[in-house]
Amino acid sequence: MTNMSAAHSTNPLRDPQDRRLPQIAGPCGLVLFGVTGDLARKKVMPAIYDLANRGLLPPGFSLVGFARRDWANEDFAKVVHDSVRENSRTEFREEVWKQLAEGFRFVPGDFSDDVAFDKLRQTIEELDTTRGTGGNHAFYLAIPPSFFGDVVGQLKEHGLSEGPGDAWRRVVIEKPFGHDLESARELNKVLSDVFPSESVFRIDHYLGKETVQNILAMRFANAMFEPLWNSNYVDHVQITMAEDIGIGSRAGYYDGIGSARDVIQNHLMQLMALVAMEEPTSFDAASLRLEKQKVLSSVVLPKRLDLTTARGQYAAGWAGGEEVVGYLDEQDIPPTSTTDTFAAVKLNIETRRWAGVPFYLRTGKRLGRRVTEVAVVFKRAPHLPFSSTQTEELTENALVIRIQPDEGMTIRFGSKVPGTAMEIRDVNMDFAYGGTFTEVSPEAYERLILDVLLGDPPLFPQHEEVELSWQILDPVLAHWAKKGKPEQYEPGAWGPDSAHAMLARDGRTWRRP
Ligand code: BG6
Repeated sequence: MTNMSAAHSTNPLRDPQDRRLPQIAGPCGLVLFGVTGDLARKKVMPAIYDLANRGLLPPGFSLVGFARRDWANEDFAKVVHDSVRENSRTEFREEVWKQLAEGFRFVPGDFSDDVAFDKLRQTIEELDTTRGTGGNHAFYLAIPPSFFGDVVGQLKEHGLSEGPGDAWRRVVIEKPFGHDLESARELNKVLSDVFPSESVFRIDHYLGKETVQNILAMRFANAMFEPLWNSNYVDHVQITMAEDIGIGSRAGYYDGIGSARDVIQNHLMQLMALVAMEEPTSFDAASLRLEKQKVLSSVVLPKRLDLTTARGQYAAGWAGGEEVVGYLDEQDIPPTSTTDTFAAVKLNIETRRWAGVPFYLRTGKRLGRRVTEVAVVFKRAPHLPFSSTQTEELTENALVIRIQPDEGMTIRFGSKVPGTAMEIRDVNMDFAYGGTFTEVSPEAYERLILDVLLGDPPLFPQHEEVELSWQILDPVLAHWAKKGKPEQYEPGAWGPDSAHAMLARDGRTWRRP
């Protein structure tokens, strides 16, 4: 359980101006498209319950489901109930559930159904009257991007994209934001024809993670890291997001997209921007986005993409003691698919701070273990007054930000081994969230959905960042497209041989987290 009592609106001790506590959303509702999908079931609906449980939703909060199902409100409530029982983070409390469920409505229909969108408008008006949602509604499109245009068009057509008077209307979309620069621009046009840019909330769920926000706290609240944070001291940076699972039942989403589009274009480039950016003048959205954009627009790809990128596809084998099929034998994957399930790129940031410091980004499915981390690897001391045998087991100093699991930070440095005349070996100094704080980190979706309802935009990338990221990745994707089949790699390994060769050429090795 979280600090519920502190967060509850009726707590007389709560000072609404206190920025340490999460704010409570004002009167509002959320319309969820794609209620039958994985995202809605595993993330969105449970996060809404968790927010209610933490006292962060207004008492009249309403959730409208929209889907092509012949459901009554009660059927929808049952679907939400099952998803909450299965996936919510906080304890199930009957009284919280009952109050929340009173605001559930369901509108059956498909995205071309004018009658259904009229019904949606009536439903929202009814909620404004009966639940006091005040005309404020967010439309959450947990649906494939190919339908975004249809839905926002219908919202406009049926008078839903603008609220009455001062009421707000917002649209929430999930990646992929296009599959290259051109389609990202088209998508942005579709959205901006209907919603002003400040009403479009693009979810990159990594930005909702506590440990990702902590990158800013760690860098800008402390004196000791920033002086080292540049090409004088940093040798290179490795950003890894590894998963041990395969694609499961997500063939429809994943095939043709692959790991670089799925993860590097968004999560990893955002992490890189946070690690590399200059200090923003404040943490408001405009200042943060400006600094991130400056990083992304300074990225230059190395000339030889054949030597500085790697991609792979997992083969059949053993993972976690189980025999697993290769990507090409996964359900609904065509045997000729060239989709990458592993991708690695080397990026150079051409600024005074980072010139000559490569950023290596890698991601993959069916790798050794599930781990996301940022490792800042430092240059060796310019002079070591020891013999080479004394420092045989000393590697580079490193600062590792552990995004997940086992959230925290490690500093690796050399220390004398006790009892030896002089032998120096790597040791780790650790900060672990679990052992330091009693508060449990909320799920990324809790933070992000609450921010949508509050209209608080800093954690949502804007279309400029999205387009800059595609601009970086497009030449890599075009290079791979010419090459045909990706290299196979063993499940449980750390990617294909070419990934290791890519770092070896630079005299470096990937970390084995
Ligand atoms: C999603 C990707 O954005 O992130 C998935 O589409 C991936 O392929 C997921 O599995 C991983 O998220 P997390 O939060 O578990 O690291």
